[in-house]
Amino acid sequence: MKMDVADLSLAPTGKKRILWADNDMPVLASIRERFTKEKPLKGKNVSACLHITAETANLARTLKAGGANVVLCASNPLSTQDDAAASLVKDFGIPVFAICGENRSTYYKHINAAIDHKPVITFDDGADLVNELHTRKKSEAHRIIASMEETTTGVIRLRAMANAGKLKFPVIAVNDAASKHLFDNRYGTGQSTVDGIIRATDFLMAGQKVVAAGYGWCGRGFAMRARGMGSIVIVTEVDYIKAIEATMDGFEVMTMADAAKEGDLFVTLTGNKNVIRAEHFRQMKDGAIVANSGHFNVEIDIPALKKISKKLNRNVRNHVDEYVLKNNRRIYLLAEGRLINLAAAEGHPASVMDMSFATQALEAEYVIKKRGKLAVAVHNVPLDIEHRVCRLKLQSMSIKIDRLTPEQVEYLASSGEGT
Ligand SMILES: NC(=O)c1ccc[n+]([C@@H]2O[C@H](COP(=O)([O-])OP(=O)(O)OC[C@H]3O[C@@H](n4cnc5c(N)ncnc54)[C@H](O)[C@@H]3O)[C@@H](O)[C@H]2O)c1
Repeated sequence: MKMDVADLSLAPTGKKRILWADNDMPVLASIRERFTKEKPLKGKNVSACLHITAETANLARTLKAGGANVVLCASNPLSTQDDAAASLVKDFGIPVFAICGENRSTYYKHINAAIDHKPVITFDDGADLVNELHTRKKSEAHRIIASMEETTTGVIRLRAMANAGKLKFPVIAVNDAASKHLFDNRYGTGQSTVDGIIRATDFLMAGQKVVAAGYGWCGRGFAMRARGMGSIVIVTEVDYIKAIEATMDGFEVMTMADAAKEGDLFVTLTGNKNVIRAEHFRQMKDGAIVANSGHFNVEIDIPALKKISKKLNRNVRNHVDEYVLKNNRRIYLLAEGRLINLAAAEGHPASVMDMSFATQALEAEYVIKKRGKLAVAVHNVPLDIEHRVCRLKLQSMSIKIDRLTPEQVEYLASSGEGT
């Protein structure tokens, strides 16, 4: 089997981790059980460019159970769990091309190995694989039935490609499904970002001023969890509606220029670039901690930070670089500005990835059924798939909800006045 992982001897730890995560992924497990019998993906080559974690391993197992020939590569050079990668290869017979800490050229070599697999379905978290199929590997795009996109930044890139008339095959904005972003981006990123920061720094959240840049799904989740741990949370935004929402949710809203002077910890969750810049670093307190939980490592202007620093002490603690500014203040950058929750912690808890990956697995089945009928565009996840995932999740939690009575169905459908 062709593959490239860090160390196959890590497989036993990885297997334990994968099976532990599986305990918390009942919806995906129920889909896997059905896929094992029905084989809806039989014989299909699938390449998935995702964070290589225990949860992703369970998605890969599910696709394989459905009959697919699955290959995985990383969607981020720092997020690979080498033990999960080793176990996928050794215990589950799934080729993986991913090594934690790989450099840019290895990262792209691995994406290309996944393309050499000649996939008909691809999965992305950030659209790097799809981008490769539209640039350097255009000749391989013709066989793609559809591609699934897991994150906000990826969907933004894909919509830009579609708007420019450059998209070559249908893509599904899995991120935009309520069964994904409402839970994964909010509760998953919220909790795991706090987790990553604490593991990296041992920071006490209580009583500290925490600045959340961006009050979208991820920002809201993080702000909520930081407040829950006793932090005084400041939000920065560029969107009027989100800014009012944050204010009414009880957060202080201000510009980054003002927040820079106040914060003890800064976290970017915007999907944008250069949100924290030189003029902000210069205003920060000695010892300020800066981290990113948005998709790419461009939210914090790291080149500018380097430029205004007189000294850089790398790895003063695992995942922590110390920048000493010319004004002698120290700024601590976590995980080189990459997704802190995946670099320093384990990414989203399995229970929340259960919903995201159940949606992904059902989508894979759906696009095969719809083969040739989907327009070359960015599609939303059909509502019945979203409902199915949420229903199964509630079932797994033994939660029952009311059903509309026939009278209520009729009432809601009628346009008459209420009496
Ligand atoms: N860490 C993770 O595991 C994880 C999980 C899901 C999504 N993401 C990534 O996190 C990022 C945010 O995702 P989301 O779903 O919350 O997106 P979103 O679109 O819901 O929210 C982004 C918010 O950032 C705001 N923003 C943009 N530029 C800003 C600036 N300069 N200053 C302040 N605010 C600004 C926007 O107005 C918006 O409200 C994306 O890159 C996404 O891919 C990360």
